[in-house]
Amino acid sequence: MTQKWTLESWRARPISQVPDYPDGEALARAEATLAGYPPLVFAGEARKLRQHLAQVAEGRAFLLQGGDCAESFAEFSADNIRDTFRLLLQMSVVLTFAGAVPVVKVGRIAGQFAKPRSELTERQGEKELPSYRGDIINAIEFDEKGRQPDPERLIQAYSQAAATLNLLRAFATGGYATLEYVHRWNMGFVADSSEGARYEDIANRIAESLEFMNACGINTDNSPQLQSTEQFTSHEALLLGYEQALTRVDSTSGDWYDTSAHMLWIGDRTRQVDGAHVEFLRGVHNPIGIKCGPSMDPDELIRLIDVLDPNNDPGRLTLITRFGMGQVEKYLPHLIRKVKAEGRHVIWSCDPMHGNTIKASSGYKTRPFDRILKEVQEFFAVHQSEGTYAGGVHVEMTGQQVTECIGGAQAITEDDLSSRYHTHCDPRLNASQALELAFLLAEGIKKERASVNLSVVS
Ligand code: PEP
Ligand code: CO
Repeated sequence: MTQKWTLESWRARPISQVPDYPDGEALARAEATLAGYPPLVFAGEARKLRQHLAQVAEGRAFLLQGGDCAESFAEFSADNIRDTFRLLLQMSVVLTFAGAVPVVKVGRIAGQFAKPRSELTERQGEKELPSYRGDIINAIEFDEKGRQPDPERLIQAYSQAAATLNLLRAFATGGYATLEYVHRWNMGFVADSSEGARYEDIANRIAESLEFMNACGINTDNSPQLQSTEQFTSHEALLLGYEQALTRVDSTSGDWYDTSAHMLWIGDRTRQVDGAHVEFLRGVHNPIGIKCGPSMDPDELIRLIDVLDPNNDPGRLTLITRFGMGQVEKYLPHLIRKVKAEGRHVIWSCDPMHGNTIKASSGYKTRPFDRILKEVQEFFAVHQSEGTYAGGVHVEMTGQQVTECIGGAQAITEDDLSSRYHTHCDPRLNASQALELAFLLAEGIKKERASVNLSVVS
């Protein structure tokens, strides 16, 4: 029999990736302060996202999830937020137009601060200190004071998330996202790249379609859907004290919602069925993601699904697979077959980033862009042969012109990495690489939908 869920029931479970706060009382005070602060998102919005995701689960829409690996306090600025938002818009235009599919946009933003780490400590020369765990916990600077977990950071993370969300809502509904501006989203260094030129071509065709529609009497004045967009937020639910403090009962439904983001996911290192993270998330009604790496066993996955989605609701669960290039065929079919055999409704999304991290000879962590593209292609191919829907992608990316992943149309080399390597954690796609990926995805989606349509006809 399942035990009763409470806001605190996770605290009695084994927990991994938990920071070692030197002052427990100060932590409890910070959590209590947050518990008194307003919610960051509304339950109704999370429910709406769940409905959109149900469409994805049924093969009628595509999930685009992306943003920083780790948001940082230092890189918090209006330009940064705008550039990420704009890149998600550009990618979604490519997918919607070239792939002919509605896109559900979910940012890794406004709360993506806590990082799971493989090593507890980091060594530099003779010195060994606790690992950096994300700005919500400690500082990236390699000194004793900085690496000590500091509860005040929870409050700073909350206020950054609130300001970020505020700007995102303004961009999404305040006119910036109107389709008439489709050309303006292609500004900056991306416009001069080959992917920028491909985007420009799509933008021209959209502008033409808008003129045609206007002549038919459909325009931004009478069709609000042309004027605004929906932008949802997500992050890894890793620091459970923060998540608990922002979890509230929705007055409309009486259900619990984690109001720190619309969607939360469980990382590959914290998805133990009896562990604290799964326990916490089973009780909230937001859409939930589960990262599935090579160590995910099909039976274990079913147990996780049973716990997290006992009612088998499409839109509740997104399985985010991250095996690494060349590994998809080895691991994914077993999971798909088991989930299918059990009749579970899930979204299959591909994270082509976390299985493709390598160390360059210069010491930088990087990801070869061709491996990322290849994993996405393998993901589509396996779903095609299993007869399931490849429903989404989950990427680490930034609107900034960084040099963190090698390859792509700009042919970033290992030697280039040092010139603009700004990430606080994993290497991200820059805007042109992300657009290039979107074009590849659009092709995959188009093929996928053509074969679905054919099978419906036959
Ligand atoms: C991440 O998405 O940043 C991450 C740590 O992923 P994973 O849990 O899949 O390793
Ligand atoms: Co990462």
